[in-house]
Amino acid sequence: MGWTERQKSMLQEMGIRLWAPVVAEPAIPKAEAAAEAPKTPAPTVDAVASPPLPATVPSDERSTAIATMPWPVLREAVAACTACSLCQSRRQTVFGVGHPNAHWMIVGEAPGEQEDLKGEPFVGAAGHLLDNMLRALNLTREQAPPERQVYIANTLKCRPPRNRNPEAEELARCEPFLVRQIELIRPRLILAMGRFAVHSLLRSSEPIGKLRGRVHRYQGVPLVVTYHPAYLLRNLADKSRAWDDLCLAAQTADAAVPRAG
Ligand code: URA
Repeated sequence: MGWTERQKSMLQEMGIRLWAPVVAEPAIPKAEAAAEAPKTPAPTVDAVASPPLPATVPSDERSTAIATMPWPVLREAVAACTACSLCQSRRQTVFGVGHPNAHWMIVGEAPGEQEDLKGEPFVGAAGHLLDNMLRALNLTREQAPPERQVYIANTLKCRPPRNRNPEAEELARCEPFLVRQIELIRPRLILAMGRFAVHSLLRSSEPIGKLRGRVHRYQGVPLVVTYHPAYLLRNLADKSRAWDDLCLAAQTADAAVPRAG
């Protein structure tokens, strides 16, 4: 495998030795090739087509309305959402960032303090590790073509107070937003990070250790499970497993057939 110096240093930062076993030899050459590709600006999002969602609309009507929202309306609906009590403690909602046609979609848990301050997912210590993991695969959250610029979102768009675990009701109320983001992006791969993302997308309560290492499907989209970067910061021994997961994800994204638009 031909690592660039930059990738080597990122892998080192992740605590991954280059002789660690990997499963996705074909993934890297394509990712490297993508880096050579001319940069195209991210497409602009759809024009506003419907008014923002009223706060009190019943839950199934609410999901149906969200399911047809174009990007700007969806963003506005998230920003104005009062469907659960997290709206009372948040500073702002954290919608998501990245390419609207990204091949990779990363799904985390919920905003923490830094994300609540900045309005962007994964900007704290866990986000730093996530960025380095992505960089090792020649992926980025910064402006780049859709095969390199990922989209990052969370299962919850609001910070739970004191970073407590998300509650089932909060996850249920927020889920239609994530479902719509996935539908609009139509990624080739979803990387679900951590137990709340994994459990809510896969409707499973199995531990990550049992779900990782194979390709699942979420509404037809291949989904790979891995540890949450915040967990990896505390459990260094699992970083090489996370790297294996990323290699499986890269291999899967490369093999995925683009979904018809
Ligand atoms: N952890 C997450 O799952 N998401 C964030 O945005 C930040 C930390």
